[in-house]
Amino acid sequence: MTGPVPHIEMRGIAKRFGDFTALQDVDLVVNDGEIHALLGENGAGKSTLMNILYGLYRADAGTIRLRGEDAAIHSPRDAIAHGIGMIHQHFMLVPPLTVAENVVLGDERSGPILGQRALAIRVRELGERFHISVDPDARVEDLPLGLQQRVEILKVLYRGSGVLIFDEPTAVLTPQEVDELFLIVRSLRDEGKIIIFITHKLREVFAVTDRITVLRGGRNAGELVTKGTTAPEIARLMVGRELRPIAPRSAAATSEVVLEIRDLRARSDRGAQVLQGIDLKVHAGEILGIAGVGGNGQSELAECVLGSREPTTGTITIGGADIAHDDPKRTRQRGVASVPEDRRREGLVLAFTVADNFILGKQDQAPFSRRGVLDDGVIQTNGERLAKEFDVRPANARAIVGNLSGGNQQKVVLGRELSEQPKLLVISQPTRGLDIGSTEYVWERLLEQRARGAAVLLVSSELEEIRALSDRIAVMFEGRLVATLAAKDATEERLGLLMAGHIETPLDRVPAGR
Ligand SMILES: Nc1ncnc2c1ncn2[C@@H]1O[C@H](COP(=O)(O)OP(=O)(O)OP(=O)(O)O)[C@@H](O)[C@H]1O
Ligand SMILES: [Mg+2]
Repeated sequence: MTGPVPHIEMRGIAKRFGDFTALQDVDLVVNDGEIHALLGENGAGKSTLMNILYGLYRADAGTIRLRGEDAAIHSPRDAIAHGIGMIHQHFMLVPPLTVAENVVLGDERSGPILGQRALAIRVRELGERFHISVDPDARVEDLPLGLQQRVEILKVLYRGSGVLIFDEPTAVLTPQEVDELFLIVRSLRDEGKIIIFITHKLREVFAVTDRITVLRGGRNAGELVTKGTTAPEIARLMVGRELRPIAPRSAAATSEVVLEIRDLRARSDRGAQVLQGIDLKVHAGEILGIAGVGGNGQSELAECVLGSREPTTGTITIGGADIAHDDPKRTRQRGVASVPEDRRREGLVLAFTVADNFILGKQDQAPFSRRGVLDDGVIQTNGERLAKEFDVRPANARAIVGNLSGGNQQKVVLGRELSEQPKLLVISQPTRGLDIGSTEYVWERLLEQRARGAAVLLVSSELEEIRALSDRIAVMFEGRLVATLAAKDATEERLGLLMAGHIETPLDRVPAGR
């Protein structure tokens, strides 16, 4: 044998769930000093493979060698003892506890001997060492997702891990937070840590990784050196086909105003004035994109429209009726559909089947129930039809939603909401966590809604998405819409500046070169 021994060597890994084969004969080799991308479509088996490395699942076949030696990893405790840590796709923090408490939680070495003060100091020092800043005394439930993620990272580092597995770490982050995470990841590598990085965004693969393993349908599809490959080549390996460029579309917007918001103000959960006077209109056949760095009031705006947050003042008119003080159920009855940002908490019941999730909120209506009795046959048939139409994989209406991959969970929410043919669709971060094929699919479905004449209020922190879909783009900053641009005028640079709070003067609008 020549060359250095790989740090991690997984060979011939197989994993079945019931009679479903999630992984078949999969190899993964990761070297020291490497940021290694693990890529593949939703359901390709990325999280499953990492759950095996982290000891959460037992492989049915295959071996794991670490630094050339066989490693028996039967539990996360074993994995941690081998220096492997995982930052999960869905955070596993205890919300009411502080940052410092979460970081040391479950680590026997600290125990209750360490007082609050000492604990906080120790966690602060750890953060400083790795350029990860977060207040050790803050409660996790009060932190935005970007900071919660840092707590997860600190937790792993606290245990002295040399291998850090990041499962879609950027899916919940704003563009700024992504840049900060990249700095952290690079500095971790420079400190000698090995990083396994799962993402659906090819931009990130090129920005931060050294080598790539691609899975497709639970098998190896390819191994690449990042510098020597191209985005279309990776996409082809992942999806097994060429991607379609998104079709040019004709104007569909009419003069009919579906949603009109005037002087809307609202407070956040903590009582801060998060909406400071919003005025906007969305027309039938129009997609209005709300761009902005997360936390500038976008979520609260969507909540007000959907009836789950009570505005302090202002009106929200849909089809002539002020719905500002309607509850979510009444709002829904007026033809408003919603795809929430945090689908695992708000859009789905994870313990229910796919079929049951497709009728969530409609379970007391015909044809799904009659005189209070659910009709299982109808629910099942409806489930199978929608699962097929919205490409939920596996296309099994009896599957438990909590077991589906992240992207497939999103398809279930979309299927339920879009099948209603809503007048107004309020959709937040619609392709968060989705693979490139599914993203293309969701974008096409949204454009279909637009062509059908629906009004769409699209909240997204992905500039690429906002620009690809919107007819007009409003930029939100500190609770206000600071500018509304026609899509053709919204360059990435201009949007970026507005999102960062730069106020445009009339001079800024003079085309360059004049
Ligand atoms: N506990 C489980 N029970 C049954 N099926 C499962 C379980 N965990 C995963 N699966 C299935 O195994 C397949 C692989 O899932 P996995 O979560 O590894 O995909 P992934 O590549 O991480 O996808 P995503 O990009 O959407 O996160 C999926 O079809 C999923 O439904
Ligand atoms: Mg996954």
